[in-house]
Amino acid sequence: MKQYSKRIAAIHWLTLILFIAALYLGHELDEAEGFTAKVALYPYHFLIGDLILILTLIRTYFMRKYGKPAPLEGGKPIANKVATGLQHLLYVLLIALPVSGMVMINTTGLMEAVKANDPSKMPDLEKFMVHEVHAAIVAIIVLTIALHVAAALFHQFILKDNIIRRIALKRFED
Ligand code: HEM
Repeated sequence: MKQYSKRIAAIHWLTLILFIAALYLGHELDEAEGFTAKVALYPYHFLIGDLILILTLIRTYFMRKYGKPAPLEGGKPIANKVATGLQHLLYVLLIALPVSGMVMINTTGLMEAVKANDPSKMPDLEKFMVHEVHAAIVAIIVLTIALHVAAALFHQFILKDNIIRRIALKRFED
Protein backbone atom coordinates (compact mmCIF):
# COMPACT_ATOMS: atom_id res chain seq x y z
CA MET A 1 0.00 0.00 0.00
CA LYS A 2 1.30 3.47 -0.91
CA GLN A 3 2.01 5.68 2.09
CA TYR A 4 2.28 9.41 2.69
CA SER A 5 5.87 10.50 3.31
CA LYS A 6 7.15 10.40 6.89
CA ARG A 7 7.20 14.19 7.18
CA ILE A 8 3.63 14.57 5.90
CA ALA A 9 2.50 11.88 8.38
CA ALA A 10 4.35 13.67 11.21
CA ILE A 11 2.70 17.00 10.29
CA HIS A 12 -0.71 15.30 10.16
CA TRP A 13 -0.51 13.89 13.72
CA LEU A 14 1.20 16.97 15.16
CA THR A 15 -1.52 19.18 13.65
CA LEU A 16 -4.17 16.99 15.29
CA ILE A 17 -2.56 17.35 18.75
CA LEU A 18 -2.10 21.12 18.33
CA PHE A 19 -5.65 21.50 17.02
CA ILE A 20 -7.12 19.80 20.11
CA ALA A 21 -4.98 22.08 22.32
CA ALA A 22 -6.06 25.26 20.43
CA LEU A 23 -9.70 24.18 20.61
CA TYR A 24 -9.47 23.54 24.36
CA LEU A 25 -7.72 26.88 24.99
CA GLY A 26 -10.29 28.69 22.80
CA HIS A 27 -13.11 27.28 24.93
CA GLU A 28 -11.24 28.17 28.14
CA LEU A 29 -10.83 31.73 26.77
CA ASP A 30 -14.52 31.93 25.99
CA GLU A 31 -15.33 30.91 29.58
CA ALA A 32 -12.57 32.98 31.26
CA GLU A 33 -13.82 35.91 33.33
CA GLY A 34 -11.76 39.08 33.52
CA PHE A 35 -8.72 40.57 31.84
CA THR A 36 -6.03 38.78 33.88
CA ALA A 37 -7.50 35.32 33.29
CA LYS A 38 -7.73 35.95 29.54
CA VAL A 39 -4.27 37.50 29.20
CA ALA A 40 -2.77 34.41 30.90
CA LEU A 41 -4.26 32.19 28.16
CA TYR A 42 -3.86 34.36 25.04
CA PRO A 43 -0.14 33.65 24.33
CA TYR A 44 -0.66 29.86 24.35
CA HIS A 45 -3.76 30.05 22.15
CA PHE A 46 -2.11 32.44 19.66
CA LEU A 47 1.18 30.52 19.53
CA ILE A 48 -0.44 27.11 19.00
CA GLY A 49 -2.82 28.59 16.38
CA ASP A 50 0.11 30.17 14.52
CA LEU A 51 2.02 26.86 14.61
CA ILE A 52 -0.98 25.14 12.99
CA LEU A 53 -0.94 27.76 10.23
CA ILE A 54 2.80 27.32 9.61
CA LEU A 55 2.52 23.50 9.58
CA THR A 56 -0.40 23.64 7.14
CA LEU A 57 1.54 25.92 4.78
CA ILE A 58 4.57 23.59 4.96
CA ARG A 59 2.31 20.59 4.33
CA THR A 60 0.71 22.14 1.22
CA TYR A 61 4.17 23.11 -0.05
CA PHE A 62 5.45 19.52 0.30
CA MET A 63 2.32 18.06 -1.29
CA ARG A 64 2.63 20.39 -4.28
CA LYS A 65 6.34 19.73 -4.67
CA TYR A 66 6.44 15.97 -4.11
CA GLY A 67 2.80 14.97 -4.78
CA LYS A 68 0.76 12.54 -2.71
CA PRO A 69 0.19 8.76 -2.92
CA ALA A 70 -2.34 7.54 -5.49
CA PRO A 71 -5.89 6.94 -4.18
CA LEU A 72 -6.70 3.55 -2.66
CA GLU A 73 -6.88 0.77 -5.24
CA GLY A 74 -10.39 -0.58 -5.77
CA GLY A 75 -12.03 2.54 -4.32
CA LYS A 76 -15.06 4.09 -6.01
CA PRO A 77 -14.05 7.21 -8.04
CA ILE A 78 -16.84 9.25 -6.39
CA ALA A 79 -15.64 8.24 -2.89
CA ASN A 80 -12.08 9.27 -3.81
CA LYS A 81 -13.37 12.62 -5.08
CA VAL A 82 -15.35 13.26 -1.86
CA ALA A 83 -12.30 12.32 0.28
CA THR A 84 -10.02 14.65 -1.70
CA GLY A 85 -12.60 17.47 -1.56
CA LEU A 86 -12.88 17.04 2.22
CA GLN A 87 -9.08 17.17 2.59
CA HIS A 88 -8.85 20.34 0.51
CA LEU A 89 -11.63 21.92 2.57
CA LEU A 90 -9.68 21.03 5.73
CA TYR A 91 -6.52 22.74 4.47
CA VAL A 92 -8.49 25.88 3.56
CA LEU A 93 -10.12 25.93 7.02
CA LEU A 94 -6.79 25.24 8.80
CA ILE A 95 -5.49 28.40 7.12
CA ALA A 96 -8.64 30.53 7.44
CA LEU A 97 -9.07 29.84 11.18
CA PRO A 98 -5.69 31.13 12.41
CA VAL A 99 -5.82 34.00 9.90
CA SER A 100 -9.23 35.09 11.28
CA GLY A 101 -7.69 34.95 14.79
CA MET A 102 -4.82 37.18 13.69
CA VAL A 103 -7.23 39.61 12.04
CA MET A 104 -9.23 39.66 15.31
CA ILE A 105 -6.31 40.57 17.56
CA ASN A 106 -5.08 43.23 15.15
CA THR A 107 -8.36 44.95 14.24
CA THR A 108 -10.32 44.98 17.51
CA GLY A 109 -7.78 46.76 19.72
CA LEU A 110 -7.07 43.53 21.64
CA MET A 111 -3.36 43.64 20.86
CA GLU A 112 -3.06 47.23 22.17
CA ALA A 113 -4.91 46.33 25.38
CA VAL A 114 -2.65 43.31 25.99
CA LYS A 115 0.55 45.22 25.18
CA ALA A 116 -0.44 48.10 27.46
CA ASN A 117 -1.66 45.59 30.07
CA ASP A 118 -4.66 47.90 30.47
CA PRO A 119 -8.05 46.28 31.20
CA SER A 120 -9.85 49.57 30.42
CA LYS A 121 -8.67 49.26 26.79
CA MET A 122 -10.04 45.71 26.47
CA PRO A 123 -12.53 45.55 23.56
CA ASP A 124 -15.82 43.64 23.80
CA LEU A 125 -14.92 41.00 21.20
CA GLU A 126 -18.51 39.76 20.94
CA LYS A 127 -19.40 43.03 19.21
CA PHE A 128 -17.02 42.35 16.33
CA MET A 129 -17.99 40.40 13.23
CA VAL A 130 -14.52 38.79 13.05
CA HIS A 131 -15.18 37.08 16.42
CA GLU A 132 -18.31 35.48 14.94
CA VAL A 133 -16.35 34.49 11.83
CA HIS A 134 -13.65 32.81 13.99
CA ALA A 135 -16.30 30.90 15.99
CA ALA A 136 -18.18 29.92 12.78
CA ILE A 137 -15.00 28.52 11.19
CA VAL A 138 -14.42 26.52 14.40
CA ALA A 139 -17.90 24.97 14.06
CA ILE A 140 -17.39 24.13 10.35
CA ILE A 141 -13.91 22.67 10.87
CA VAL A 142 -15.05 20.48 13.78
CA LEU A 143 -17.85 19.09 11.57
CA THR A 144 -15.43 18.54 8.66
CA ILE A 145 -12.95 16.72 10.95
CA ALA A 146 -15.80 14.56 12.32
CA LEU A 147 -16.67 13.50 8.73
CA HIS A 148 -12.99 12.87 7.92
CA VAL A 149 -12.59 10.68 11.05
CA ALA A 150 -15.89 8.84 10.40
CA ALA A 151 -14.74 8.02 6.84
CA ALA A 152 -11.36 6.76 8.13
CA LEU A 153 -13.06 4.57 10.76
CA PHE A 154 -15.49 3.21 8.13
CA HIS A 155 -12.53 2.17 5.98
CA GLN A 156 -10.57 0.74 8.88
CA PHE A 157 -13.31 -1.27 10.60
CA ILE A 158 -16.09 -1.89 8.02
CA LEU A 159 -14.16 -2.15 4.74
CA LYS A 160 -11.13 -3.44 6.69
CA ASP A 161 -8.68 -2.02 4.12
CA ASN A 162 -6.22 -0.80 6.79
CA ILE A 163 -6.33 2.76 5.43
CA ILE A 164 -4.63 4.13 8.58
CA ARG A 165 -1.35 2.65 7.27
CA ARG A 166 -1.33 5.32 4.52
CA ILE A 167 -0.80 8.07 7.11
CA ALA A 168 1.24 6.04 9.65
CA LEU A 169 4.71 7.18 10.72
CA LYS A 170 5.90 3.60 10.61
CA ARG A 171 6.96 2.36 7.15
CA PHE A 172 5.42 -0.83 5.73
CA GLU A 173 6.95 -3.00 3.02
CA ASP A 174 3.78 -3.97 1.07
C1 HEM B 1 -6.44 26.38 14.36
C2 HEM B 1 -6.24 27.14 15.39
C3 HEM B 1 -7.32 27.75 16.27
C4 HEM B 1 -8.40 27.16 16.88
C5 HEM B 1 -8.83 25.70 16.83
C6 HEM B 1 -9.10 28.22 17.62
C7 HEM B 1 -10.24 28.04 18.39
C8 HEM B 1 -10.90 29.02 19.09
C9 HEM B 1 -12.11 28.85 19.84
C10 HEM B 1 -12.89 27.53 20.00
C11 HEM B 1 -12.46 30.05 20.38
C12 HEM B 1 -13.71 30.38 21.19
C13 HEM B 1 -14.75 30.88 20.20
C14 HEM B 1 -15.99 31.40 20.88
O1 HEM B 1 -15.95 32.50 21.41
O2 HEM B 1 -17.01 30.71 20.80
C15 HEM B 1 -11.42 31.01 19.99
C16 HEM B 1 -11.39 32.34 20.38
C17 HEM B 1 -10.38 33.21 20.04
N1 HEM B 1 -9.28 32.96 19.23
FE1 HEM B 1 -8.85 31.21 18.33
N2 HEM B 1 -8.42 29.42 17.43
C18 HEM B 1 -7.32 29.17 16.62
C19 HEM B 1 -6.36 30.07 16.22
C20 HEM B 1 -6.26 31.39 16.67
C21 HEM B 1 -5.17 32.32 16.36
C22 HEM B 1 -3.93 31.99 15.49
C23 HEM B 1 -5.45 33.48 16.99
C24 HEM B 1 -4.66 34.76 17.00
C25 HEM B 1 -3.40 34.88 16.65
C26 HEM B 1 -6.73 33.32 17.70
C27 HEM B 1 -7.36 34.28 18.44
C28 HEM B 1 -8.53 34.11 19.16
C29 HEM B 1 -9.15 35.15 19.95
C30 HEM B 1 -8.64 36.57 20.14
C31 HEM B 1 -10.31 34.59 20.51
C32 HEM B 1 -11.32 35.29 21.43
C33 HEM B 1 -10.93 34.98 22.84
C34 HEM B 1 -11.75 35.76 23.84
O3 HEM B 1 -12.96 35.50 23.90
O4 HEM B 1 -11.15 36.56 24.55
N3 HEM B 1 -7.18 32.03 17.48
N4 HEM B 1 -10.49 30.35 19.20
